[in-house]
Amino acid sequence: MINKNSPVGVFDSGIGGLTVAREIMRQIPNEKIIYFGDTARVPYGSKSRETITRYSRQIVRFLQAREVKVIVAACNTASAFALDEIEKETDIPIIGVIKPGARVAAAVTENGRIGVIGTEGTIDSSIYSRYIKKIKPEAAVTGKACPLFVPLVEEGLWEDPVTDEIAKRYLTELLDIGIDTLILGCTHYPLIRSTVGRIMGESVSLVNPAYETARELKRLLGEKGMLNDEAARLGDNRYRFYVSDAADKFKRFANSIIKYGILSAEIINIEEY
Ligand code: DGL
Repeated sequence: MINKNSPVGVFDSGIGGLTVAREIMRQIPNEKIIYFGDTARVPYGSKSRETITRYSRQIVRFLQAREVKVIVAACNTASAFALDEIEKETDIPIIGVIKPGARVAAAVTENGRIGVIGTEGTIDSSIYSRYIKKIKPEAAVTGKACPLFVPLVEEGLWEDPVTDEIAKRYLTELLDIGIDTLILGCTHYPLIRSTVGRIMGESVSLVNPAYETARELKRLLGEKGMLNDEAARLGDNRYRFYVSDAADKFKRFANSIIKYGILSAEIINIEEY
């Protein structure tokens, strides 16, 4: 039976969604988390809407079988392509990372010029722009796909001259049009936040959807009276990680960015769902 002490389900195409899981751990440490990373089928960023919707549907079924009380689509591409459709089919709340990020960007901008960086899928969908314009119709939103950022982050090149050089190439165009707000619209980008911030300069506010999504989740659970009220016990396995492939690689990355003890990951066959 699902109740307030049931876990929160979080999913992503792979490891990037750990930046969202980490924010949930920081902001609502009492919550249990079941995380699924689709490491066998990553990347999502270059695949079609149909494929991402099918993958997301399977993952939602898997998380529901684990009796989660709410689902967080931590992946920007999955949030962009699949959320509207899947929301209609699911009887528990699902939140994505796009709306929280769009809302904050619309509130923060002063000159109305907002940039969004993300995968090709997220940028081509123009979804950030649509949400922002609902709140602030006069905003000018410019998207820029930055496909090389994901492999650079996964290679651990967070602070590296190569990443600096590529970031300059991607971001110059956004600098030139004078944006004052930039959305880090991909799970991996918070990990290169300092590189992006250095290039954009202090006058550009960086919006981190991972942080805003954890805030939104806390607000939603509070409103519904669904915040976990159990006291955390030592060794009670609050966080469980599942992947569709390469569990060891996932584990290494997870342990490098999440500092809550050694995490393990189990492989499941997601095609069965
Ligand atoms: N998690 C994806 C996103 O936020 C990035 C990695 C991928 O392309 O699968 O869009």
